[in-house]
Amino acid sequence: MITVNQLHPLFFGEIVGADLKAEPTEDLRQAVQDAMDKHIVCVVRQGPITDEEHIRFARLFGPLEYPPNYGKRPAGRIAPELFSAGNLDPDGNIKPLTPANANIAKGAERFHADSSFNPLPSKWSMLRGVECPPSEVGGDTLFLDLRAAYDDLPQAMKDRVDGMTGIHDFWRGRQYAGLEVTEEMKAAMPMPPVHHPLVREAPLGRKALFVGGHCVGVVGMSDDEGHAFVEELYAHVTQPKYIHRHQWTVGDIVIWDNRFALHAATPLETDQYRRDMRRATLNESGEEGDTYEFRRRQAEAAH
Ligand code: OGA
Ligand code: MN
Repeated sequence: MITVNQLHPLFFGEIVGADLKAEPTEDLRQAVQDAMDKHIVCVVRQGPITDEEHIRFARLFGPLEYPPNYGKRPAGRIAPELFSAGNLDPDGNIKPLTPANANIAKGAERFHADSSFNPLPSKWSMLRGVECPPSEVGGDTLFLDLRAAYDDLPQAMKDRVDGMTGIHDFWRGRQYAGLEVTEEMKAAMPMPPVHHPLVREAPLGRKALFVGGHCVGVVGMSDDEGHAFVEELYAHVTQPKYIHRHQWTVGDIVIWDNRFALHAATPLETDQYRRDMRRATLNESGEEGDTYEFRRRQAEAAH
């Protein structure tokens, strides 16, 4: 029997009673889909599972988006389809707290939607806690509800943003956040900007204000004007009343809908604890592939 509890006044479901080690059933898929339609972020509480069980569960809901450079990296400690989000290197050792590593980690501490810099924005992310440090030393994850933030906009602002198009740019987003971005970094990972609607339709007749760390401007505005405008919206959606803090228990899988919720990492300012977090990422539709593969296919289709 699967039950769902709501852990925040606005959103965030807790799914209890799912067994992801067993062959998934249609009842399981439907229960998770219904919980996600309602809550947009849910934690599935259950014990440790394997990467293969994680991937099998994720594929019930759409095609996987692979980590960048899928297939070009040496085989590592985790399945190549999963994105590594903790503090471990490919060999499983704790990454030292160097300024360069801290600079990479800081990007995720700004509220964002995963992969909104891709031509296809991602649908869901499913992050699994494999090794979780005690909450006192950091490593909680924050989530917020973009539907509630949209609902609370004054009508005049709703009228203004409806129909606007946001510009999502991975490197400019990091620059605006005050992080180091060099020409070498850009050359190693070219990420031209993409467009997504500023207001998205959510399930159950709702709408969501689609901003976040990678959204740097608005089509039709100057860079400065667009940046100032999306910063104003970012300040609105990140008010504490929209935020839920998740403290991890080993085995948790937190599923978030990147179209209607933002999330942010909290700092782990110690290298004394292992944090092994593995993420399956899904697209709405299309073939499985990584971000470069999607950009290559998009360029081909444009010819
Ligand atoms: C992610 C992410 C935050 C965290 O996996 O996409 O932003 O707390 N993770 O690990
Ligand atoms: Mn993320």
